[in-house]
Amino acid sequence: MFKLKFIAEPKKIVYKPLSVSIKYLIDEKKLGNSLKLFEKVSNIKLSAYQRKNFLYSKGSSIRISKPDGKPDEIVLVKVKIDEKFTQDFFRNQLAGFIKSISSEEINNLHITIPKYESFKKYYDSEEYFYQSFIEGLALGNYSFDLYKKSKDKVKPLNVYFYASNSKKLNSALSVSKNVIDGINFTKELQNEPGNVITPNELSLRIKTKFKNTGVKITVFNEKEIQKRKMGGLLAVGMGSSNPPRFIILQYNGITGKNKKSKTIALVGKGVTFDAGGISIKPASGMGEMKADMSGAAVVAGTILSAAKAKLPVNLLGVIPSAENMVSGSAMRPGDVFITASGKSIEVDNTDAEGRMILADALDFASRKKPDVIIDLATLTGACVVALGELAAGLFTKNDKLADQLFKSGMKTYDRVWRLPMWDDYNDLITSSVADVNNVGNTRWAGAITAAKFLEHFVDKNINWAHLDIAGPAMANNTNNYTKKYMTGFGVRLLFDYLSAKAK
Ligand code: BES
Ligand code: MN
Ligand code: ZN
Repeated sequence: MFKLKFIAEPKKIVYKPLSVSIKYLIDEKKLGNSLKLFEKVSNIKLSAYQRKNFLYSKGSSIRISKPDGKPDEIVLVKVKIDEKFTQDFFRNQLAGFIKSISSEEINNLHITIPKYESFKKYYDSEEYFYQSFIEGLALGNYSFDLYKKSKDKVKPLNVYFYASNSKKLNSALSVSKNVIDGINFTKELQNEPGNVITPNELSLRIKTKFKNTGVKITVFNEKEIQKRKMGGLLAVGMGSSNPPRFIILQYNGITGKNKKSKTIALVGKGVTFDAGGISIKPASGMGEMKADMSGAAVVAGTILSAAKAKLPVNLLGVIPSAENMVSGSAMRPGDVFITASGKSIEVDNTDAEGRMILADALDFASRKKPDVIIDLATLTGACVVALGELAAGLFTKNDKLADQLFKSGMKTYDRVWRLPMWDDYNDLITSSVADVNNVGNTRWAGAITAAKFLEHFVDKNINWAHLDIAGPAMANNTNNYTKKYMTGFGVRLLFDYLSAKAK
């Protein structure tokens, strides 16, 4: 692992020892010319060996030339711009690359960002094109070895970027830094185990992280939660010896006379561990449920990024947090609870706990009358069955909000895909004893019935979208920066959505 220092260096490459340089080749046929040009801008003379072995990738894999006796290494990566090229190409490439050199002794990395013209049609802006390079390195460099005796050595690495527009490069660097800080905080919370991140510890980590950021943090303990009659949150928490918490984050980025305008509420499921309760989960893969607070982590990470970037938006973060355990005091199937909204819920399955805690959080957020509410939750396995790990489920009746989130998703590659919210689905979650049932009465449409359940607790006059991130939040093999560790999915998406709002 490296401690990365990003440097905008629009001038000529000063090629130092212990350097790696990456040059992207757009056109393979021009390899010969590019080499000469490369020597010229890089101010180096390639050896005969290097010339011969000066490599570009076969397919998309990266090969590194290792000239005898010389520590310098140069990597040429061929980029094929065809229908297979995606907005994620460079992010993914650089994430893979930084991993591949993680054990090397390198002090300097030079990255020449190719000309924007060839890539224009894939990107939203030149600046964001640059940003994807920076993000790739930071995301790929992530590791979580806090609890290992033998930790990765953290080596300093200067990363010099060369790009044609130095103003845009500088701006991309400063924006990326804020986004990356948020993503890293999100990932830290996700990857910490359930025995460490209890609801209380989650609140403490958030309090600590937000010191001196101008974000106000309020935490309700179990007594306050009781006083507020948050019956859904209390019900889920009652099986655990780690009591629930309700965490509120307030960031006011709009000052002056428009102070009150444009509040966006972000609500995140914060189940610090989900055993399923009495409707217990199967043993295999249950450990993954330490990240059942990913929605909460994304809310905290996004607000951190927004505050650091001083985005001119007002944000209200709402995090209901509890642990869903099995014990003598745990809620049972058949139990009925009354939520803060006054609506009662029947618990047909104690493993459908996320929607119960979100019921109280969405009600709380609704009462604050924000312009928009977006909630994020690792809510259903059904959503993973439907969409896999590549996209979050997007549920909203608001076409405009859907379009905005979809657009931000395609741009940042934190992708979302819309599923229906037709009222006909309400027939599946009726209860004979309560206002609503916490599970559908058939197996079908599990992700949608969960969303319809949530809808019961949102003020109809507020634009609301629900994102089921159960698939993409968890570690997966879809690309080079989602492997092994929880992914931080959602921070890039929401940061971009908020940036667009701020305009
Ligand atoms: N946290 C789980 C959903 C989940 C599954 C997240 C896989 C990440 C990966 C949620 O609380 C849950 O258990 N949902 C149930 C709902 C069911 C009981 C209606 C599910 O999906 O099985
Ligand atoms: Mn569950
Ligand atoms: Zn859960």
